[in-house]
Amino acid sequence: MGIVPKLRGARTHEGLPISDGLSHFTSASNNKKWLTSMSLLVALVVIAEIGFVGRLGIIKNADIFGSLPAMFRKSHTSARLKAAGARNFGIRALGGDRNSTCEEWLEREDAVVYSRDFSEDPILVSGDYPQELKTCAVGCKIGSDPSKKPDAIITQLPEPQAPCVLRTMESTAYYPENSIALARRRGYEYVMTTSLSSDVPVGYFSWAEYDIMAPVIPKTKSALAAAFISNCDARNFRIQALVGLEKENIKIDSYGICHGNQNGGVDKVETLKHYKFSLAFENSNEEDYVSEKFFQSLVAGSVPVVVGAPNIEDFSPSPGSYLHIKETDNVHSVAERMKYLAKNPDAYNQSLRWKYEGPSDSFKALLDMAAVHSSCRLCIHLATIFLEEEEKNSDIQKRPCKCETGSETVYHLYVRERGRFEVDSIFLRSGDLTLEALEAAVLKHFKSRKHEPIWKRERPESIRGDELKVYRIYPLGLTQRQALYTFKFKDDVDLRNHIENNPCAKFEIIFV
Ligand SMILES: *[C@@H]1O[C@H](CO)[C@@H](O)[C@H](O)[C@H]1NC(C)=O
Ligand SMILES: *[C@@H]1O[C@H](CO)[C@@H](O)[C@H](O)[C@H]1NC(C)=O
Repeated sequence: MGIVPKLRGARTHEGLPISDGLSHFTSASNNKKWLTSMSLLVALVVIAEIGFVGRLGIIKNADIFGSLPAMFRKSHTSARLKAAGARNFGIRALGGDRNSTCEEWLEREDAVVYSRDFSEDPILVSGDYPQELKTCAVGCKIGSDPSKKPDAIITQLPEPQAPCVLRTMESTAYYPENSIALARRRGYEYVMTTSLSSDVPVGYFSWAEYDIMAPVIPKTKSALAAAFISNCDARNFRIQALVGLEKENIKIDSYGICHGNQNGGVDKVETLKHYKFSLAFENSNEEDYVSEKFFQSLVAGSVPVVVGAPNIEDFSPSPGSYLHIKETDNVHSVAERMKYLAKNPDAYNQSLRWKYEGPSDSFKALLDMAAVHSSCRLCIHLATIFLEEEEKNSDIQKRPCKCETGSETVYHLYVRERGRFEVDSIFLRSGDLTLEALEAAVLKHFKSRKHEPIWKRERPESIRGDELKVYRIYPLGLTQRQALYTFKFKDDVDLRNHIENNPCAKFEIIFV
């Protein structure tokens, strides 16, 4: 129970990409009616509330009847109201419809006021070039502010002043100390590397940087492949692979310093467009380490021949869109495949099918991640952790998170899109606690809000799609490797267990 008008404050949220954090189960008019009839109680509760708000250091009067600034859910700690004697006061009779009242009640009882309002007091990360991330879903400032202690420091050497962030795009073959495990041992709290298992992955990929869907043009070069390799001293077998392909009589135009036979200084992508194949040879073979070499080949519509990440499949726009030299023994078979494709235009064209028909959902879901700047994703990550920490506080732990109605239990869940910060309520019933029902509830919720996916403006127009489609639903807090590739609720029982064991469970959604 509580001061209903205040609970509904989410709509006044300033400047965030989503302001739709409120459940449609409650309406402002209901709240007003209730307010009138319950004015005495409200008056009492308000008195308790002013004390509470004061303790939070939130002193704007408007907030008491308007929006209380809190990010996850703007509302109310029920414990305070229980203390004010407001418990069990007929809230269930409120909306008329029995179903919606259970949900309304949950929305109110489960709501939390967090102590920090990130729009007033943004996440502050120092140590990197200054950035004000105006479009970030949470208040986020990169740079220094002499009047404030930063929430985290991006640094090359861990320091004791604040939690440290390691941020690098180098492979661990060259900088072993940057592996996640070693970085943690060195004292880094947060790790940002190309690894999708790091806390906040920083990839070479994005729609903004690469015109991935650029049209294919005729392949006019007589050499089968182009190579741009400037460093002949890699920590993998890429040079052996290059020599091996040459021995297999694959003609390669090499524009780099290493084995160069062409004049360098050309536009790489424009040049690649004229070749059937492009040697996307990384300097190390490391999971998730996929550099611009691969993405430039995709832009050019030149089939990448990869030496690099063992899981390059995860980064490919469709199966069969690349060739992979996994080890030196593969050189022969890959060379044979190149020759075959070069002689068979239809088969070759199949490798580029994604250019005409669009890439796979998994590719879209991966690149969409980068629609939100990594600094903003760091701020979201930090703010989420801070609020989750706060939720461990005992008052918040006492939230009901479920409610009995008739013979059924209504479960209160929270959802948000990846790349956003605020969570929205959805409800599932014990009679229909299934993966299918969860997806349906998510879709219904976001569709009713005419939700625009966060990547909408970033993705090339031809592959934006117009229907909201759920690609993944996963518990908030998983890494992107888990979210995109390894996590899956095994079945409905697994989901039910998760919801039972995690009251007010939060989920993140990836739309494609
Ligand atoms: C209440 O919930 C039950 C079970 O989910 C459903 O069958 C019924 O239609 C709902 N009633 C209303 C008015 O929504
Ligand atoms: C390749 O396939 C696409 C359709 O999948 C077609 O439009 C295009 O003309 C083909 N190109 C060649 C060179 O065959």
